[in-house]
Amino acid sequence: MNATTPKPILILGGTGKTGRRLAERLTARGLPVRIGSRSGSPRFDWEVPATWGPAVQGVSAVYISYYPDIAVPGAAEVVDAFARFAVANGVARLVLLSGRGETEAQRAEEMLKASGAEWTILRCAWFSQNFSEGFLVEPLLAGEVALPVGPVGEPFLDADDIADVAEAALTQPGHIGQLYELTGPRLLSFADAVAEIGKAAGRDIRFVRISHDEFTAAVASHDLPPEFGWLLNELFTQVLDGRNESLTDGVQRVLGRAPKDFSTYATETAASRIWSN
Ligand SMILES: NC(=O)c1ccc[n+]([C@@H]2O[C@H](COP(=O)([O-])OP(=O)(O)OC[C@H]3O[C@@H](n4cnc5c(N)ncnc54)[C@H](OP(=O)(O)O)[C@@H]3O)[C@@H](O)[C@H]2O)c1
Repeated sequence: MNATTPKPILILGGTGKTGRRLAERLTARGLPVRIGSRSGSPRFDWEVPATWGPAVQGVSAVYISYYPDIAVPGAAEVVDAFARFAVANGVARLVLLSGRGETEAQRAEEMLKASGAEWTILRCAWFSQNFSEGFLVEPLLAGEVALPVGPVGEPFLDADDIADVAEAALTQPGHIGQLYELTGPRLLSFADAVAEIGKAAGRDIRFVRISHDEFTAAVASHDLPPEFGWLLNELFTQVLDGRNESLTDGVQRVLGRAPKDFSTYATETAASRIWSN
């Protein structure tokens, strides 16, 4: 590498919902990126700290998207250990993908701030893409979404907006030491969101509110990892209790434009036929 070649930006979760989009944006700008995941080269695995060194070697900045979820117990300590490791290895610029109203996520944020890094925090609402790139695809295709959640409003946030904000944070001045709370522009219940998707897909898709016990049993019957069931129950009992039922201006502040509305997301995504049988 000669003196004029920019160092790569390491994108943890670089094949996931936000990381993949961020990688596309940085690559389109001609900036070198390194994908940090188990399929990356070099391989990065949160559970194998020996893989962290080769991944951070020679990079200018890291986008930190923790897996499986920054809300799980112990996530804060792992993110803290990684942040300190990166700083000790000469990578000071760290952008953390965080979650709203989550005790563990807010602990991780405090640890990042204390790590000595030049930090930026993106504290995000529920991603719209959970409906198209996550666990809700299968029930949507089956025509019925059953969740233990009532009429609480969630300001669903598009992963494209998160990637745009992360791109700005990593390529423009003025974002060091900033915590951006990011939401979509409108509160929708899960029933509202499913109805919008049904309308966009031209299909009859039902939303059913079930109890937490019914939900736990349904997750168990799907042969999913037990921690996945724990995590979803935590999100549906703790985080969706009304604490996040508010809009923020984070996307507008960073990008100078409004966030994408859920109906636009639903229409754009339906065109890919992901929700069509
Ligand atoms: N989804 C939401 O609504 C939401 C809202 C707020 C905050 N968040 C936060 O966003 C983060 C990402 O969540 P997401 O739902 O968007 O997931 P995601 O990024 O779609 O997750 C998949 C990514 O994680 C990588 N990965 C899986 N296991 C790994 C491991 N052991 N080590 C390293 N990389 C691994 C995958 O690549 P490989 O398979 O190649 O390893 C892939 O790049 C979480 O910390 C979550 O708390 C999510």
